[in-house]
Amino acid sequence: MNLKGRSFLTLKDFTAEEILGLIDLAADLKAKKKQGITGDSLKGKNIALIFEKPSTRTRSAFTVGCLDEGGHPEYMSREDIQLGHKESVEDTARVLGRIFDGIQFRGFKQETVEKLAQYSGVPVWNGLTDEYHPTQILADFLTMKEQFGYIKGLKLVFVGDGRNNMANSLMIGSAKVGVHFTILAPKSLWPQQELVDLCREYAKESGSVIEISDDLEAVKDADAVYTDVWCSMGEEDKAAERVAILRPYQVNQELMDKTGKDSTIFLHCLPAVKGNEVSEDIFDKFADVVFDEAENRMHTIKAVMVATLGK
Ligand code: CP
Ligand code: NVA
Repeated sequence: MNLKGRSFLTLKDFTAEEILGLIDLAADLKAKKKQGITGDSLKGKNIALIFEKPSTRTRSAFTVGCLDEGGHPEYMSREDIQLGHKESVEDTARVLGRIFDGIQFRGFKQETVEKLAQYSGVPVWNGLTDEYHPTQILADFLTMKEQFGYIKGLKLVFVGDGRNNMANSLMIGSAKVGVHFTILAPKSLWPQQELVDLCREYAKESGSVIEISDDLEAVKDADAVYTDVWCSMGEEDKAAERVAILRPYQVNQELMDKTGKDSTIFLHCLPAVKGNEVSEDIFDKFADVVFDEAENRMHTIKAVMVATLGK
């Protein structure tokens, strides 16, 4: 796997081998860190961390991942820089590309992260946009690998807002690496058909089965049940409407029982709204795995930086 100089904007741009290679690299970096061994792969590298939206995990993961490898991270919020209001995205990209060696962007439009990559000339990493959250999927798959020992052939069911960044990216990642993937959501929150069709094309190669359903019985045989907030950042005005249509889709004991398996795990990208998308008891029952998943953000994000920018 050689990803040197590449940006990480969406999993669409990566092969199964590359995605699995990043997960293996992350597992290796994690094992080393547990033994107190960090690296110097990013020594002398300066990394800009642009955040238009708030973040706990992604910001922490990029910051610590960069420092662990000897690099220098620089946090810039929307209020700190001119991006997109006082200066065009293209010009900001050209400036940052002259000064920094890599750029993380979290924000609204996918178009912005793509422009940053196009105009900066340095690797750009997508730390979440309205459309995709690709680094999160690496942490999710690493966690599944730790739990089951393998990834290909597992059945993953995403329950909730089936058209959000998490649903989109999990569908792309699953289709690429051969995870059977189901979106369980009311019809009004199904993903774009164009993306489903694209993922089914990827799935032909990997052997994965992609299903979209509004029937709770679709969780049957799930190895992992995944959910996310009902209202993503930037959609706060939709809260009441979402609670009304998603209430029957809460991940609770009753839904977990429908998998028919005792071995099913629960995953959540966090932050969670307990009592909405997940019941308090299910969250508590699977807290260890969910917080492993959160920790794995750091190891996987470090792997992305090392693979694309490290020496
Ligand atoms: N899962 C995730 O991206 O968390 P943050 O919003 O805290 O970065
Ligand atoms: N769908 C959520 C993910 C948070 C990590 C959001 O965009 O707010």
